[in-house]
Amino acid sequence: MTDKKFGIGIIGTGWVAGAHIDTFSAINGCEVVAVSSREKKKAVAKIAHHKLKNAVAYDDLSSFLQHPDLDIVVICTPHPFHPSEAIAAARAGKHIVIEKPVALNRKDLLAVYEAVQKAGVTTSICFEVRWIGAIRNAKKFITQDLIGKPFFGSCSYFHGIGPWYGQWAWNIKKEMGGDAMLTAGCHALDTLIWLMGSRVSEVASFGNVSEGNPLQYEYEPNITSILKFESGAIGNVSASVECRQPYEFPLLIQGPKGSIKGNQLSTLEYDLKDWITFPTSMPDSGDVADHSYPGQLNHFVASLRSGKRPINDLAACMHVHEVMYAMAESMKTGQVIRVKGDI
Ligand SMILES: NC(=O)c1ccc[n+]([C@@H]2O[C@H](COP(=O)([O-])OP(=O)(O)OC[C@H]3O[C@@H](n4cnc5c(N)ncnc54)[C@H](O)[C@@H]3O)[C@@H](O)[C@H]2O)c1
Repeated sequence: MTDKKFGIGIIGTGWVAGAHIDTFSAINGCEVVAVSSREKKKAVAKIAHHKLKNAVAYDDLSSFLQHPDLDIVVICTPHPFHPSEAIAAARAGKHIVIEKPVALNRKDLLAVYEAVQKAGVTTSICFEVRWIGAIRNAKKFITQDLIGKPFFGSCSYFHGIGPWYGQWAWNIKKEMGGDAMLTAGCHALDTLIWLMGSRVSEVASFGNVSEGNPLQYEYEPNITSILKFESGAIGNVSASVECRQPYEFPLLIQGPKGSIKGNQLSTLEYDLKDWITFPTSMPDSGDVADHSYPGQLNHFVASLRSGKRPINDLAACMHVHEVMYAMAESMKTGQVIRVKGDI
């Protein structure tokens, strides 16, 4: 255990960067010391906005990485930039927080993995939904054997991302956003895999866009997939980034002794007439201010201090990316696809 102070450097000055700055600033022993942007004036403005007393603005990645006392790099740029920035940070010996998705394709993902392994740095992938109260409870119910071994699981991400979000302008482009699962549905897929406790072996996926493509996506903003798990379980995951409704993250896990539905539990372990509802935090908002970054980033800092692996490090999150690449291939080919990868 170490009480070392950690200097934090943020790459990107958009919406999510603000949430990371606020979260790290509230963690004992952490201070944001550097902010990097394509334009220095944006980094200067971000530093002023968050009243960061000791942070320096950069517009050049290699100078940013040489900032004295920089220990942790947080990657908050659009998706296609994550691999090159993560590889540069790893080569500079920095621990890395990487916004999802780590990479839009398998080749880039493996390049990041190789660089991180070679450098021996610690990583945290932003699948922060795992730290929301309802999901933490669900994991505990399953670990405590209250529903038995899951045989079916379903989780979805329904969040209309339109011009009312800054990221929409770049995220609608195919080469920037990837697809509906890579850009945002990955939260539902990661949650499902995490709770089912099993890798996915096969996927069959379909996508579409609504008539007239009102939000102008260059890819199909709606996707649904059937999943087969290595455990023998089956399930499905869906995502829509063009839906027009309040944010929804429906979850259902069924086992032979009970079921979990959002923040509700039904179990044969107790004499029940109805679901038990657990009042807790819910995945019910797309606003980064409501995201469970404090849970994720406190876990990351505690892992660095104790030398233990974070539960969401890159090695642990490789599989969810492999499943998404298999989904993309299934949509392209119309075939059921076997998921690749042994990491
Ligand atoms: N984990 C989560 O729940 C969550 C929530 C929101 C966003 N994100 C992720 O964070 C990342 C950033 O998203 P955001 O909402 O902060 O986006 P944003 O548009 O608000 O900010 C993007 C930042 O990247 C910079 N940038 C660098 N090159 C760019 C380019 N070519 N085009 C546009 N911007 C460029 C922008 O200047 C800006 O500072 C994405 O990978 C996104 O998936 C994750």
